[in-house]
Amino acid sequence: MGSKNMSALWMVAMVFVLLNIGLCNGGKTSPYVRKLYASEDLPKDTFPSPPGFNAPEQVHITQGDYDGRGVIISWVTPVMKHPDVVSYWAAGAEGKRKHKHTVQSVTTTYKYYNYNSGYIHHATIKGLEYDTKYFYEIGQGNSARQFHFTTPPKIGPDVPYTFGVIGDLGQTFDSYETLKHYMANPKGQAMLFVGDLSYADDHPHHDNERWDEWGRFVEKSTAYQPWIWAAGNHEIDFAPELEENVPFKPYLHRYLTPYQESQSTSPLWYSIRLASAHIIVLSSYSSFAKYTPQYTWLETELSKVNRAETPWLIVLLHSPWYNSNSYHYMEGEAMRVTFEPWFVQHKVDLVFAGHVHSYERSERISNVKYNITNGLSTPVKDPSAPVYITIGDGGNIEGLASGFVDPQPSYSAYREASFGHAILEIKNSTHAHYTWHRNDDNEAVAADSIWFFNRHTYPKEEHN
Ligand SMILES: *[C@@H]1O[C@H](CO)[C@@H](O)[C@H](O)[C@H]1NC(C)=O
Ligand SMILES: *[C@@H]1O[C@H](CO)[C@@H](O)[C@H](O)[C@H]1NC(C)=O
Ligand SMILES: [Fe+2]
Repeated sequence: MGSKNMSALWMVAMVFVLLNIGLCNGGKTSPYVRKLYASEDLPKDTFPSPPGFNAPEQVHITQGDYDGRGVIISWVTPVMKHPDVVSYWAAGAEGKRKHKHTVQSVTTTYKYYNYNSGYIHHATIKGLEYDTKYFYEIGQGNSARQFHFTTPPKIGPDVPYTFGVIGDLGQTFDSYETLKHYMANPKGQAMLFVGDLSYADDHPHHDNERWDEWGRFVEKSTAYQPWIWAAGNHEIDFAPELEENVPFKPYLHRYLTPYQESQSTSPLWYSIRLASAHIIVLSSYSSFAKYTPQYTWLETELSKVNRAETPWLIVLLHSPWYNSNSYHYMEGEAMRVTFEPWFVQHKVDLVFAGHVHSYERSERISNVKYNITNGLSTPVKDPSAPVYITIGDGGNIEGLASGFVDPQPSYSAYREASFGHAILEIKNSTHAHYTWHRNDDNEAVAADSIWFFNRHTYPKEEHN
């Protein structure tokens, strides 16, 4: 072996030694350093309105009932209220007139400072067949647009299903890369979106045209598969200086959720059941103290979870409870203190959060012993606790949060300041394969991956 080869080998060995030093405390801080540059929003009209007069745009769908036989189809018509109906039919039923159905939308508009929205439509369809491809069409003549979606399979403990996970997306070049990377993977069937959509509020007067732009940007995915929405702080749009005093006004007009189907009284917190998963969405920016609507709803909803039907119990919220980044540090603490004992008691499998613009995965840990006087405030390993994943790395205008606290706390298993998205592949009632993909790699590369074992059916310790 030549000396050149020897020194190359020696360098490779040194890199491994250095990496292992980084692993000593159990957690891993990725040595990967992404090149840092200011993210700017893509120019307006990067995603122009579709051709044709008053053509429907910003089309998006979400689950429309508790168990997956419903869908809510939403769209905007910029100039006039019509078309306000959507027609749909099962694939293969083309040409059979009686198989074509139409549903009337509920239409809304809103003003925000000097902005007037287009006509925002929400059409709820129920009683669809499970696991069936449907086409739908909005508009007529040269403004007509056609899309399709596939309903999820019937609820059941071993039903496989694959979710994408994205948070804090925004509408920059990096956001564009994140969505492109997610869409390059044909496996994703529905998106778990953990809040902070358009970042319109980072523009003067919360420029609501940025909400429209965002709707057109994500349409290539949102029109074809359900995005499950959780609200973040950038959805609040509370601006008394503009006389805009109604929190969540643009978001609530634009993004309807099936909250009444889970007996919630607010679109900001609700739950759905999909394949083998029970998904609970919480609002970090609505009251959650004892006796409040969100608190009492969550208590009831957790008692309704049937792990024999939906073994996977997944929670989405915006502000993370376990975050080892100095950015937004401990902002989720009040909600953690309030709800964490329930999550441990009910053996929640996974909690996805956003807000912090980097990626982090926790160990299974809990911190529920503390009672002010006993001093027991250290998170401890707990096989009944969820894994907490912070995935606020969608790529928005505010850039990366690279200020991880040092040393890496023992509760943190993997962390990296890069933009990306995740894929959660539920295989059956016991196993789910989870991967995180950084935008700088090809989609096929998983920068972080682990097999999750279900806390109810197979509560073994996981290793990656
Ligand atoms: C707080 O915890 C300590 C130790 O576990 C226990 O002895 C004490 O009774 C607790 N205090 C209250 C008010 O529950
Ligand atoms: C569940 O999926 C895992 C991973 O694919 C597999 O190893 C395991 O055998 C499956 N369990 C059953 C009961 O099929
Ligand atoms: Fe946020």
